[in-house]
Amino acid sequence: MAARATFIFYALFLTSIQLLLTHHVSSAARGLWKYMVPNVGISAMHMQLLHNDRVVMYDRTNFGPSNISLPNGNCRHNPNDIVSKLDCTAHSIEYDVAMNTVRPLTVQSNTWCSSGSVRPDGVLVQTGGDRDGQRKARTFSPCDNNQCDWVEIDNGLTNRRWYASNHILPDGKQIVVGGQAQFNYEFFPKTTNPNVVALPFLTETHDQGQENNLYPFVFMNTDGNLFIFCNNRAILLDYVKNTVVKTFPAIPGGDPRNYPSTGSAVLLPLKNLEADQIETEVLVCGGAPKGSYNLAFRKKTFVKALDTCARIKINDAKPQWTVENMPHARVMGDMILLPNGDVLIINGGSFGLKR
Ligand SMILES: *[C@@H]1O[C@H](CO)[C@@H](O)[C@H](O)[C@H]1NC(C)=O
Repeated sequence: MAARATFIFYALFLTSIQLLLTHHVSSAARGLWKYMVPNVGISAMHMQLLHNDRVVMYDRTNFGPSNISLPNGNCRHNPNDIVSKLDCTAHSIEYDVAMNTVRPLTVQSNTWCSSGSVRPDGVLVQTGGDRDGQRKARTFSPCDNNQCDWVEIDNGLTNRRWYASNHILPDGKQIVVGGQAQFNYEFFPKTTNPNVVALPFLTETHDQGQENNLYPFVFMNTDGNLFIFCNNRAILLDYVKNTVVKTFPAIPGGDPRNYPSTGSAVLLPLKNLEADQIETEVLVCGGAPKGSYNLAFRKKTFVKALDTCARIKINDAKPQWTVENMPHARVMGDMILLPNGDVLIINGGSFGLKR
């Protein structure tokens, strides 16, 4: 899936920002959307809320100028840019929610479909991406004086990673799982030698070139093992010993739930059962039927997305999926846990997936 220039992606994310940052000002049937915030100037392909109520957004760097300039007349020499080799615009910004202001940030390498996670000390760590970003690690330390910016680390990753998933570990390091043509995981900062460990589960769920195992859903279980969901099924991985300690059944129907058949997933709020037992339940929603990627890519046929959610209690002796239906089919949706334990399912499209 070279250049899956996800234009629909952009449109969807822009829509999501508008939803977040606008309000409905007219009760007339046709309605209208009105901005309450300045145009942030970039597409928020990636977006992270930081502990100081600022939101960092970032986009790919090689697709021409954005609509916000770098500060102080700064420019970047950007040899991999498809449009402009000298680029004086920013491809990352910080939005200050309280002040309702935007400031440009400097990201040099291509963050397109990179991945990241926030460390316990509040620092955002982002790894991988496309082209010159594939092996990069980037950190952003939140600040209140508008002085902080991205720090980029060459060869922060051992392998190139595009569409991988990061998860924070108890020691503050991150595990980076998979990515296109990467059937393995590694750690950032680098820990073991070798830092890259093969994970056959990623090969098994690769679906003969349709992938559907990218951006795996990764959650830390209460027993210290990692739940890793790819395509239509999951394992519990002891990442220290590289041992699969449990294999979960496929979701009934067997349709794929990971990129490019992009569904979404959350770890539901933990529940204390009797004694020291903890109930750990994962919810997976949406996706696109098997074969959707090839249909969209080769025939421009966009089939209806999946309208099912499936949940599983991963610490059960014999875990089974329970399937429910959503009111709408949804691919490329987002799921967010709300403070009351409800899950907000938002964004996405109802048909197919688009290159
Ligand atoms: C952003 O768009 C506005 C409105 O079209 C334009 O006036 C401005 O020059 C643009 N800024 C940059 C940096 O492209």
